[in-house]
Amino acid sequence: MSIIMVTSRGPFSNEKKMGKVVKQQNVGGVATGLKKIIERHGGTWICWGDGNADHLFQEEFTDHYKIKRVLLNSREKKGFYDDYSNSTLWPLFHYFREKIEHDSTSYGFYRQVNKKFAEMIRDSAEKDDIIWVHDYQLSLVPQFLKEMGVKNPLLFTWHIPWVSSEFYTILPEREDIVKSIAMCDSITFHTQKYRTNFRHSYERIYGYNKELERKTFTFPLGIDYRSFSHEQVTISKRPFADQKIIFSIDRLDYTKGLVERVNAIEMFMKKYPEFREKFVYLMMVTPSRTGVEEYEKLKERLEMNIGRINGLYGNLTWVPIVYMYRQINEEILKTYYSWGDIALITPMKDGLNLVAMEYVAVTKKGLLILSEFAGISEYLRGAIKTNPNSDDDVSDKIAMAMRMKGDEVLRRLRGMKEFLRKHDDRWWANKILGTLERN
Ligand code: F6P
Repeated sequence: MSIIMVTSRGPFSNEKKMGKVVKQQNVGGVATGLKKIIERHGGTWICWGDGNADHLFQEEFTDHYKIKRVLLNSREKKGFYDDYSNSTLWPLFHYFREKIEHDSTSYGFYRQVNKKFAEMIRDSAEKDDIIWVHDYQLSLVPQFLKEMGVKNPLLFTWHIPWVSSEFYTILPEREDIVKSIAMCDSITFHTQKYRTNFRHSYERIYGYNKELERKTFTFPLGIDYRSFSHEQVTISKRPFADQKIIFSIDRLDYTKGLVERVNAIEMFMKKYPEFREKFVYLMMVTPSRTGVEEYEKLKERLEMNIGRINGLYGNLTWVPIVYMYRQINEEILKTYYSWGDIALITPMKDGLNLVAMEYVAVTKKGLLILSEFAGISEYLRGAIKTNPNSDDDVSDKIAMAMRMKGDEVLRRLRGMKEFLRKHDDRWWANKILGTLERN
């Protein structure tokens, strides 16, 4: 028995740069979270070959597992990924009503690509292999597998929020998506709310289904706690000796509340002038979905706003926001986490949020300010919770964190570290695989 992991985004891509092919790690919660799990279990990872040299590596062996890549042409990429996945489903499942775009052609491509994934799974699966499909990009894969007569145990994990049934029914293809997911043997979500919302969405369309109660579960994805909590190799000396560092890292995405957050930083400086020059906000943003227009517009708005605020409040020796837009590797990221006195993680809506967890695992004496609307806020009790829709509230919480005494900070951290240590990625994978034995 081995695992066939199926995701849209793979663990890394092959990119041709200046005549040489380099392996580039992919960002994003799912790719990062699953990588260590499959390294331990072995098996096959089926994913989209998005890199510009991935066609040369359609099948590839790493030390621990095999990768198989589904290749898409440019029309399939646009319809499946840019349009239906990221301009219809993504805003829908994050409650961004005004950003939802829809057309039936892109849904046609979404179906076509989901079918391609199902074909590759069918051709790869041995008799007892467990097929584990992930996330909103691949919601129709289960139905195609069933139609193709694939009988292997089938797991589905949904990684983003599941909205209320009322909101879900906005979707023109609402019947197809819940019906397909419901065909799996076990379906898991990160919070109890998402699980309930999924069941209500299904039942609103198809009526009560007793089986769904038995085969839907809630298990929040864990991180590899041990690797994040080990003594840090600090790559370089901590900068800003005279200031507290407020840190964040996010994909460039409107769900992350980036523009709202820099507005809250401005509010913080207005409301609490005594803290000016006592902090630096180190804001890391990684490129994401650059082919989608909304994301391009967001980058412009964010960067203009940062420039405006720095121009207004900065001086010859200090600027409030140090902004970087690029990919960074895990070692540098850990160093940044260890520098941060405060992590400011304020998504408008987020399935879980791995950054909050990684920061808590790494920091020895840092505080976490966390949006109420990140799935992980249900589990991290020691975080300072905030409403990202209110720059007043966020700025008050920053002031509270700036003033908090060391023993209170440590008390808050202890409970959160303990939670993450117990509920790590091993725990998560074992729980999910264990649901198949119960069935
Ligand atoms: O669950 C959401 C997700 O699929 C995660 O992998 C990650 O948060 C993000 O979206 C990555 O997006 P993309 O695959 O579009 O780069």
